[in-house]
Amino acid sequence: MKESLIIDCDPGIDDAVALITSFFAPNIDIKLICSTAGNLGIETTTKNALHLCELYDQSIPVAKGLPGPLNTKLEIAKGVHGKMGFGNYLYKDVKTKPIALQAYKAMHYALQLYNNSTILVLGPLTNVAMLLKTYPEDAKKIKQIVFMGGTKDNVLKQEKPYPEFNISRDPEACEIVLNSGANVTIIPMDFGHYAYIDNEEISRLKSINETGAIFAKMYENYKDGHVDDDDAATHDSCATAYIIEPTLFKTEYVNAKIKFYDGKGILVSNITKRKTKIKLAVDMDYDGFKNLYYGLLSVAKTINE
Ligand code: RIB
Ligand code: CA
Repeated sequence: MKESLIIDCDPGIDDAVALITSFFAPNIDIKLICSTAGNLGIETTTKNALHLCELYDQSIPVAKGLPGPLNTKLEIAKGVHGKMGFGNYLYKDVKTKPIALQAYKAMHYALQLYNNSTILVLGPLTNVAMLLKTYPEDAKKIKQIVFMGGTKDNVLKQEKPYPEFNISRDPEACEIVLNSGANVTIIPMDFGHYAYIDNEEISRLKSINETGAIFAKMYENYKDGHVDDDDAATHDSCATAYIIEPTLFKTEYVNAKIKFYDGKGILVSNITKRKTKIKLAVDMDYDGFKNLYYGLLSVAKTINE
């Protein structure tokens, strides 16, 4: 039985890689893609999501998300994902349009049609928070919310908790999701740094297929800031891997909340023996992840192939 999936994302390079590979995962059925403001503004992330569906001939509805965080001004990831959000990979225009429904409403209706769907969030949690604020009863209709966010060990900035992008851009949204009663699994950013694609792998990507060449073009101008500029972090692909192959991960039950340090929302989680509604991925099989990454890449065919 395929996993019914709603993906909320802010493409962005690592979102794009995660989306493209998920199109070819045999065990998931993507019912809806929602754009969220984050890496770039909502117009750009929406256009980028539409482009990827066109490029890979995916007839998946795309719903446009809210223009920015619930209570703060949008601060995009300037200089990280290149001019259009896809590094040096550029495209002309998109022919398709998003559906008329706002993302959170589209999620609500999708959950009525496809009860017990999983929601995968690869950007700030603004849209999902608005869904749960507007339709709190939907928390019971969601199998689980898996989101890429926060850090596991604060290994990135030892001196103080690190404000990971997806959480720090809309901490109130994360708080709403954590307190919604939905089952939540957190995939922290540490994995995307440990399982980075190094520059040798990137040069080999070009000769695998058209998708490999597209990834290499994207990675050419991807400045994640925590791996070398000629390497590429895989944050969102790690979160997507959890949906496709959960056995690659070890998770623990946690108590999780948002704390504010220097005005930035930080996701703080503590492992507990009690069965809470929230799980944190604490380990990943890196070789297994890379096998999945290259396995899906090798079968990814664009509309031109
Ligand atoms: O911190 C990494 C996360 O922020 C990734 O999802 C990346 O795409 C950005 O959204
Ligand atoms: Ca993202």
